[in-house]
Amino acid sequence: MPNPEVRLLEPHDGIQEYDNPIPAWMSWTLGLIIAWGVCYLLFYLVGDGPTAKADYEAAVAENIKLQFQEIGTLKPDEPTMLTYMGKPDWMAFGKSLYQTNCQSCHGPTGLGVVGPNLCDDAYKNVEKLADVARVVTQGAAGAAMPAWGARLHPNEVVLVSAYAASLRGSATGGKAPEGKIIPAWPPVPKSEPPKPEAKGTKP
Ligand code: HEC
Repeated sequence: MPNPEVRLLEPHDGIQEYDNPIPAWMSWTLGLIIAWGVCYLLFYLVGDGPTAKADYEAAVAENIKLQFQEIGTLKPDEPTMLTYMGKPDWMAFGKSLYQTNCQSCHGPTGLGVVGPNLCDDAYKNVEKLADVARVVTQGAAGAAMPAWGARLHPNEVVLVSAYAASLRGSATGGKAPEGKIIPAWPPVPKSEPPKPEAKGTKP
């Protein structure tokens, strides 16, 4: 005889199963998980909780700051710009700054949009390499070319300027040349051999 105290399920095939309620702590745990999930969604998806991308960018920025400590404060002069134009790692960083801050006006490859073509040999405000850093720091033509000196770290100014200068001769076409043709930049010194980890190879 089944115990009348125990609730039983009796499906059509005659097999009997217990139908006890789950323990209260389990229901509470489930409830808490759902409540936590709702808060999570509200904070991260609806609210302004940090996204994985923002976390990653913050980590990269943190890392760049550490590297800035190693290189010190760069001078916006010709020898410094040439040195960094020869360092592919730093030019990759310069490129990311360019993509964030400059390409809307100068085009993704530097061929010019609102701002002049940076790939040709003609310049309006530049005669020597250091003038690139000066224009980037101070801006030009009123604020048509914004001043970046107050918005970027001094090293970022040098690195994005060096990258912008390195675009010269990298592509053809685009916006018609503006200004006058200036002499070529001095030669870029040979870069140091890349570190083994940079290539992803194990020693
Ligand atoms: C809002 C649009 C805009 C943005 C953003 C912008 N520029 Fe410019 N840039 C201009 C304009 C317009 C000029 C031309 C100024 C003039 O007519 O004298 C210019 C000029 C320049 C020049 C001098 C070119 C020459 O022929 O003299 C350089 C170098 C330059 N920009 C680099 C940059 C870099 C690097 C960035 C990003 C950090 C940047 N620009 C962001 C609009 C912009």
